[in-house]
Amino acid sequence: MQPYTSVQHQFPLQSLNTFGIAATAHAYIRITNTEQLIGVYADATWRALPRLVLGGGSNVLLTDDFPGLVLHIATEGKQLVGGNDTHHFVRAAAGENWHGLVQWTLSQNLGGLENLALIPGTVGASPIQNIGAYGLEIKDVFHSLTVFDPRDGAIRSMDAAACRFGYRDSVFKHAAGRNLVILDVTFALPRTWQPRLHYAELAQAVAEQGWTAPTAQQVADTVVAIRRRKLPDPAVIGNAGSFFKNPVVSSMQCAALLAQFPSLVHYAQPDGSEKLAAGWLIDQCGWKGRKLGAAGVYPKQALVLVNNGGATGGEVVALAQAIQADVMARFGVALEAEPVFV
Ligand code: FAD
Ligand code: EPU
Repeated sequence: MQPYTSVQHQFPLQSLNTFGIAATAHAYIRITNTEQLIGVYADATWRALPRLVLGGGSNVLLTDDFPGLVLHIATEGKQLVGGNDTHHFVRAAAGENWHGLVQWTLSQNLGGLENLALIPGTVGASPIQNIGAYGLEIKDVFHSLTVFDPRDGAIRSMDAAACRFGYRDSVFKHAAGRNLVILDVTFALPRTWQPRLHYAELAQAVAEQGWTAPTAQQVADTVVAIRRRKLPDPAVIGNAGSFFKNPVVSSMQCAALLAQFPSLVHYAQPDGSEKLAAGWLIDQCGWKGRKLGAAGVYPKQALVLVNNGGATGGEVVALAQAIQADVMARFGVALEAEPVFV
């Protein structure tokens, strides 16, 4: 008997991607435990078909119907699993909601994840692009994770070095790790908590409240308020957050750009390179608030592409390409998409 019970065919994906793109999957299985996942990969029925592991669908762009099997990760569970002298270890199943985990840790008096409050999606996807916001990336609070490797059917643990985290990047976005399915993630949260307020906008918002020694909950509340002000709620207007990564250029290229565009927004990186604000580059090209078909650029944040209602994946791609061409023509800078195109 199959360990998974319900396979659905021609399954609608519109409510499973935050862009709200209408597309169907040839087949769909909701995965609620690891045995089901192993069973699917062992079943010859699916071997020849492409597979898509889907969490909250908040970092994918569906460009067409999916001709394969969607594995929707809906596993649950989160707990404190121990610690060492300096850290508490918290483990959560891949299908857990990310913001739900942040809230739960805060309710347990475990600080550390608060700067990453309100990022949509699941725990299992959080290492894929090493989610980051307001001065913290998950690599900074990461202990280890467990994967299922379909190549040999093994279940393995991976530490931070094995995950090769980078800015919006990890081994899971490259050939060596692309097929791995993340089952759970363990986070290391400091026993002695200190607020991380080196992100200027966050520090300013905390100071404006008159908090000189904010609690982790207060930092989380401030992050949530900033995010609500700046980013569209996918439940209201379809989007996948930042559509492009902030491009990293050499200090020489940055200096040349600054000579021409003195208000260029740039952040010095530890290795001497410079990260440019893609939102600023796109804004300067006049794209803020513009539309191409039913796809558009969010009027309050030029880095966020939106579905104004009924957009196809193709329309979003066409808009993204037009933006990339303009930014290249004006600044000589290539913008790389952040979401995964399916
Ligand atoms: P999905 O979109 O379902 O999947 C993304 C990729 O991960 C796909 O390639 C998928 O195959 C793979 N994947 C998912 N689960 C697993 C698994 N268990 N094992 C293996 N592969 C898996 N991101 C940031 O970093 N910082 C932000 O501040 C931020 N803000 C956002 C704001 C908004 C309004 C939105 C809509 C998105 C934002 N994002 C941000 C992007 C997004 O929230 C994150 O990338 C998130 O981690 C995606 O999680 P998900 O479960 O929705 O992944
Ligand atoms: N800017 C403009 N015009 C715009 C948008 C931005 O001039 O239309 C300028 C802003 O004034 C600011 C700079 O660009 O000086 C940066 O903007 P913002 O602070 O909004 O941050 P961002 O670079 O656009 C990044 C992440 C977000 C993350 C925030 C907070 C990337 C690609 N994006 O956005 O992550 O939440 O910083 O840390 O790194 C995501 O990845 O989906 C995401 C939302």
